[in-house]
Amino acid sequence: MKVLVIGGAGYIGSHTTYELIRAGHEVVVLDNLSTGRMGAIHADARFFWGDIRRKSDITKVLLAEEKTRPVDVVMHFAAKLVVPESVLKPLEYYENNVEGVRTMLEAMVDCGVKNIVFSSTAAVYGEPDNPLCSEDDPTAPINPYGETKIASEQLIKWVAAAHGMNYCILRYFNVAGADQSLRIGLDKDQLTHLIPLIMQSALGMREKLSIFGSDYPTSDGTCIRDYIHVTDLAQAHVSGAQHILDTGDSLLLNLGSGKGFSVKEVVDAALELFDFNYEFAPRRAGDPAKLIANSNRAREILGWEPKLSLTDMIKSDYAYRKQLQQDTD
Ligand SMILES: NC(=O)c1ccc[n+]([C@@H]2O[C@H](COP(=O)([O-])OP(=O)(O)OC[C@H]3O[C@@H](n4cnc5c(N)ncnc54)[C@H](O)[C@@H]3O)[C@@H](O)[C@H]2O)c1
Repeated sequence: MKVLVIGGAGYIGSHTTYELIRAGHEVVVLDNLSTGRMGAIHADARFFWGDIRRKSDITKVLLAEEKTRPVDVVMHFAAKLVVPESVLKPLEYYENNVEGVRTMLEAMVDCGVKNIVFSSTAAVYGEPDNPLCSEDDPTAPINPYGETKIASEQLIKWVAAAHGMNYCILRYFNVAGADQSLRIGLDKDQLTHLIPLIMQSALGMREKLSIFGSDYPTSDGTCIRDYIHVTDLAQAHVSGAQHILDTGDSLLLNLGSGKGFSVKEVVDAALELFDFNYEFAPRRAGDPAKLIANSNRAREILGWEPKLSLTDMIKSDYAYRKQLQQDTD
């Protein structure tokens, strides 16, 4: 298939591009490089600089590609995703995330592209009563970021129904790790994810790690989350895209391992490999005690199974970050 990856210079978009190319697919990337990096774009992908909020940037690419072979699937990764920032700048988040999706859908309708894969998030579940989240559970985001994802999901569903399109909406849980090549990984100015923060502490780039909250109703008092390796996640995008293309069905799927690890368990797993300091800090607002994915639907429909472990995530993130540090020395 030929895939337009919007946001393919970012963390998950670049890993998905690598997996698409490894599986023999053709990839075109559109990105405004606001948080992405040129160096993360696979050498075999064609790159167009553009902004998803400008329809002509998208139609230009779709029409240019049509001359050789039309784009079969659009994958959307081009969102802003820093939760505290979304609370301070809701207008920017709605504009980029929701208006961006609306413009992209309009361009797809204009150019007759029928298949969309969309990155959504566990943040749509908010603070659920049942910590093992299934796709049909109620959604109740507690921040503007999560709201923009639900609004985008709804918009995609309505547009798909009105224009005969197929969608694959993927709700990710906690994504971590780096590609086996170590050419790409999580490389951002604003790091908020636990595993990279641990690695920065292990590499001496931060004094110590803060664990937010030690009085949650869990076995060791710290929050429990579901971690998924970015390569497993990327492979689910390849399978999801192929599935909607082949069957004409639409899908809404959680992507997680189905296993929960407490923050302390992740810290302990990393401490077995590296030395670093940590401290307990007060709880952060809006962190539910426990959030785990029920990913049975993805397993049943796509035959997808996460293959990489928490240790793989920790080791690959460390190796990637160490390499980045050496490159800048
Ligand atoms: N990283 C996670 O842990 C996580 C978890 C759940 C969901 N998600 C979702 O996955 C997607 C990708 O996340 P990521 O971690 O790779 O983020 P990222 O910031 O690394 O990548 C986003 C990419 O989109 C580009 N982009 C942003 N706005 C754009 C615009 N207006 N026009 C064109 N390009 C634009 C950026 O330059 C960047 O390359 C997002 O939609 C996010 O909501 C991520």
